[in-house]
Amino acid sequence: MQHSDVAYLSFDLHQGRELAAASEHLTQIGGPEAPGVADLARQWVKHLASTLQPEQKGVIQRFADGRLSALMFSNLPCPGPDPIPEQLPDLPTLEQCPRCRYLAARNQLLLELVRYRAFAFDIDNEGKQIRLVGNFKGGGRVPLASETTCAPVELSSHSGLKLGLHTEAPYNCSVIARAGHSPAPSALILTARWNPARQPINIVPLPSIIERLGTLHALALTSASFDFSRSECFVAGLGEAGTATSILQFDANGGFTLRYNAYRFSLNHHASDAAGRAFDAFVALVQAAEPLTFELQPDSALLINNTRTLHGRDALIDNRRLLIRLFGYSRFAQPIVIRQDPLLVQG
Ligand SMILES: [Fe+2]
Repeated sequence: MQHSDVAYLSFDLHQGRELAAASEHLTQIGGPEAPGVADLARQWVKHLASTLQPEQKGVIQRFADGRLSALMFSNLPCPGPDPIPEQLPDLPTLEQCPRCRYLAARNQLLLELVRYRAFAFDIDNEGKQIRLVGNFKGGGRVPLASETTCAPVELSSHSGLKLGLHTEAPYNCSVIARAGHSPAPSALILTARWNPARQPINIVPLPSIIERLGTLHALALTSASFDFSRSECFVAGLGEAGTATSILQFDANGGFTLRYNAYRFSLNHHASDAAGRAFDAFVALVQAAEPLTFELQPDSALLINNTRTLHGRDALIDNRRLLIRLFGYSRFAQPIVIRQDPLLVQG
């Protein structure tokens, strides 16, 4: 699939072995949740970077500078066979599993390669670096054995529900912390442990949508005219909804940053008619966009620039689908740091 805002990267045999050794080493000392691992990942990546070809370096630099919407890694190393189970194991079991830790460590190394730091929010995912994306709470095409039909299902990556196009929360700011909130993740990286139904991630790069929107509509999206509802993955009682925020901001690195969620954003009551028309035009362009689709498997990983790309997925067909996600901050991001190692920030 060719798109000027998306690039692809694979490693040669020697580089693949290096990445496998690094992933294994990080896994053995506890993976991304353990202190000291981020530093070690940086050291491994320094070595790996010295073996890169000019073309590989060019792609990595483009992502590092905020000039790509997505980067798809393929032919990644994986340790041995990992048969698909009859049923998805429960979350605590998976969290203890070395295979999940290995895939998370590999994600952390790929983030480091583009000079991003893996991190977690205090209010999200219980402060953990690794998010296991799977249907633990119901809502897939086929109900879980534990699922009752009457209870509402949480609209988050721990359910099997369709997730409309969105950038990752929080939605208060994009690069520099503001009013007690750290910025949204600069990027997310996803790989799959199991994806038996081969269900893709859908992404919509935003540069062409902003261009088609036109100058005046784009300007109106920079006004504080939009509200968002609270994310259901946040820890109970934390991470409130927001009012009168902007969707779009100018940014020197990459040209703009954008925050939006198709199922959480609405027009503020005090918004001008011009902002309302811009919002309608933006929503219409997003709805009309033909998403790019990426099928993840254990030997691939998708790095998504969260400030210039929307992502989403359909309801899960096979409840054994399990993705491993990490958030990353670019070298430009200025969060409110709670703990340096592993990096935990105020959400
Ligand atoms: Fe997401």
